[in-house]
Amino acid sequence: MFSSRVRSLEISGIRRMFEAAPVGSVNLGLGEPDFNPPASVIDALIQAVRDGNNKYGPSAGIPALREAIAERYAKHDPSTRRENVIVTMGGSEALLVAALTLYDPGDEVLVPNPGFVLYAPHARMAGAAPVPYSLREENGFLPDLAELDALVTPRTRAIVVNSPSNPTGAVFPRKTVEMVARFAEDHRLMIISDEVYDEIVYTKTPYTSFWGQSDRVVVVNSFSKLFAMTGWRLGYLLASRSLAVEANKVHYHIMACPSTPCQIAATEGLVHPPPETAEMIAEFRKRRDLTVRLLNRIPGVRCVKPEGAFYAFPHLNWGLSTQNVAQQLLQMGLISTPGESFGSLGAGHLRISFANSQENIRRGLAILQDYAEHRKGR
Ligand SMILES: Cc1ncc(COP(=O)(O)O)c(C=O)c1O
Repeated sequence: MFSSRVRSLEISGIRRMFEAAPVGSVNLGLGEPDFNPPASVIDALIQAVRDGNNKYGPSAGIPALREAIAERYAKHDPSTRRENVIVTMGGSEALLVAALTLYDPGDEVLVPNPGFVLYAPHARMAGAAPVPYSLREENGFLPDLAELDALVTPRTRAIVVNSPSNPTGAVFPRKTVEMVARFAEDHRLMIISDEVYDEIVYTKTPYTSFWGQSDRVVVVNSFSKLFAMTGWRLGYLLASRSLAVEANKVHYHIMACPSTPCQIAATEGLVHPPPETAEMIAEFRKRRDLTVRLLNRIPGVRCVKPEGAFYAFPHLNWGLSTQNVAQQLLQMGLISTPGESFGSLGAGHLRISFANSQENIRRGLAILQDYAEHRKGR
């Protein structure tokens, strides 16, 4: 009755945890900022609706937003123009459009393990086979070139990269970006670079985008995290002009066009960057430091400092399945995400989101501490 495509998909582990949570639980499973969108962006949305901007717009997005996005990327490649930009319904749609534009049945796609939950299902939906590559803690959660080389076959079409990473928080240093770009050139692969956390970095060195590193790049980005507007569903992809024309065909047939008033609001946010963004990132930094400090105090827990995004990815050296640990924590009122949800190498880790107040982080991690101290009796 159902297509093999849909039978290849599972309900996301993150959603499952969420739906099973008792009322009043502390939610450190969140994948979204707990802030409101900036005031100027909200005002621009309301004004856009009042002004009557409530109709379909151009499929690739309104020109003003495409131009503002191109300008944002000019620092990585001065030749960037609005023709390189397709505005989508979130980074999620941009990832699917990239997959459907680039992968053929029988292709293989290198995806991070652990990695964000959409990459492998999107490959399968396009008929391709996801091939996981390792991001190991001992390697700073960065890809290993020797392993990547060994995974390439004549069927390999693309590599998906994500920096800053969900779930590990790792940020690729420039030399890793250059290494992956060279690897892709050498093997004639496409790079799909998911950069939705590009502004949420805690490193001193500036963020290195894949944009401008190679012609074989599709960059995916989003306004969800930047402007804390996850529910408005607005993102985009950047690609060479010829690829953007093809991607726009797929995008049109899935979505017709992105939300018109949300695009007007996002344009305002890009053209006049609101102060709230920097305030939000400064608060995330404090919460990151708090989260890592509290986690490392718990017996058997080891947590490296994430350099970007808003997730800690501690290892629990308890010899227990983190899937079971997360289930038991849920009964105790803490929502976390078991590392297994992000791939086999996530096993032994929990993803702890610090997109929640310092008070809730303290409450949530006190539950984890309590669990650690009493687990022998469980
Ligand atoms: C790494 C990564 N990519 C893409 C997305 C998709 O975000 P959106 O569709 O809201 O833009 C998310 C959301 O959590 C994410 O963590």
